[in-house]
Amino acid sequence: MQLSVNVDHIATLREARKEDFPDPIHAAVEAELGGADGITVHLRGDRRHIKERDFELLRRIVKTELTLEMAATKSMSDIAQRIVPDCITIVPETPGEVTTQGGLNLLRLKEDLKIFISTLRDRNIVVGIFVDPDIGQAKEAARLGAQYIEINTSTYSQTRVTKNKDEVIRIARVAKAAKREGLGVHAGHGLDYKNTPHLFSVPEITGFSIGFAIVARAVFVGFRQATQEMVEVIKGAR
Ligand code: PXP
Repeated sequence: MQLSVNVDHIATLREARKEDFPDPIHAAVEAELGGADGITVHLRGDRRHIKERDFELLRRIVKTELTLEMAATKSMSDIAQRIVPDCITIVPETPGEVTTQGGLNLLRLKEDLKIFISTLRDRNIVVGIFVDPDIGQAKEAARLGAQYIEINTSTYSQTRVTKNKDEVIRIARVAKAAKREGLGVHAGHGLDYKNTPHLFSVPEITGFSIGFAIVARAVFVGFRQATQEMVEVIKGAR
């Protein structure tokens, strides 16, 4: 079970004052020292937190696995092909959204995405798609040439523990179907120190992408320790 730490909100804090600190590069180093298996950033079209400079520097300093979250646009593909992260998770992007709103609807997007994905794969980038927990979406992700899906856990995360058993069952069904299609399975969005362990009952999930909860904890204990604590939580399932 792997943990990729999303450092976007260190850049959000930096941009709140238009300063050059705190630096997401520093956070990435601390996260790796804290035991993270990877670093994730979302380079948004509006560049409201992570900038190209961050992504470029991260490519040079990240020693684990660098994942770029990005929208399926030509300009993002050009940047990704130039900088070449280890992995790309394709996400939907809506101008003005506070955070990613749901998975990409693959039943609407079709053949263009197949070419888009194969261009990135030709650069030796491992390509995944962020999808809602829906078997049809997982099957479509495989058909379009993705290598993994990241299951959107925002509904799960917002549901009370007593009620989220149904959501875990839904996620488990999709994870199994995705694995049958030959896809890797990750999960992310809204996960924290308390709700992540309930997903350990889904063995197909091999990676978690977690950002906000770690950044929020880091304010009080430091980024390295906040990462270490999440690594400890995830070790419980290893
Ligand atoms: N996965 C995706 C696709 C995301 O867009 C985000 C948020 O940037 C995350 C995971 C991490 O979510 P959180 O910050 O709530 O942990």
